[in-house]
Amino acid sequence: MARQKLIRFASNAQNANLIEPGKPIFETISGHWATDFFKNDNPIVVELGCGRGEYTVGLARLFPEKNFIGVDIKGARIWVGSQQAIDEQLSNVGFLRTRIQNIDRFFAPQEISEIWITFPDPRPRGRDVKRRLTSNRFLNLYRSLLKPGGIVHLKTDHQDLFEFTLETLQQYPIQNLQHTADLEQSPLRHLHHGIHTKYEAIFVAQGYSIKYLQFQFLPAP
Ligand SMILES: C[S@@+](CC[C@H](N)C(=O)[O-])C[C@H]1O[C@@H](n2cnc3c(N)ncnc32)[C@H](O)[C@@H]1O
Repeated sequence: MARQKLIRFASNAQNANLIEPGKPIFETISGHWATDFFKNDNPIVVELGCGRGEYTVGLARLFPEKNFIGVDIKGARIWVGSQQAIDEQLSNVGFLRTRIQNIDRFFAPQEISEIWITFPDPRPRGRDVKRRLTSNRFLNLYRSLLKPGGIVHLKTDHQDLFEFTLETLQQYPIQNLQHTADLEQSPLRHLHHGIHTKYEAIFVAQGYSIKYLQFQFLPAP
């Protein structure tokens, strides 16, 4: 394994803002983010597939009255955000290393106020539909973990994933759906918050427009 990765993994084991397998809190955090981690009742915003955590850290700087948690399976990536938050003394930031499929083991129903999905792997192959982070399986998971009125945000460069998401959402009672296929040119561009992720920068440089949507689930009838 690359030496840099080993150094990052060792650092992750020490970083108090990063929860991962092997740390006792990994087993007990569900339902206890307010009491055991942030020590306040501020709303919890989760970034799924956060990579280096640009949104988690960037939004945490802008909104100190909210708590932010980046979730990703890759320890060497979340190390970047974890370390940045420590260096900047951002106490409203946490990282969780796990598979997104399992987040219901780490959050209790209605514990989350907002979810950001930032440049998810598009999984274009038909046989991978269920692995898309906006497939029914994942949307059902998000719905169960969000508070009433909770918001889901998606940013992607991928037109097919964007259309797939809009189509899939037609199966759900939702409200306040806002979407644009070109965020920079849209009245919604302020929702960008001036934050550019690593993958976003790559896609923009390749000439792709950034697609964005947000919505709220309505309670099941
Ligand atoms: C294309 S990258 C985007 C990273 C970051 N959001 C950005 O915009 O730069 C997708 C990220 O999702 C993570 N990821 C993909 N599937 C995942 C899963 N099932 N559970 C946890 N992380 C996952 C990958 O490790 C990767 O960091």
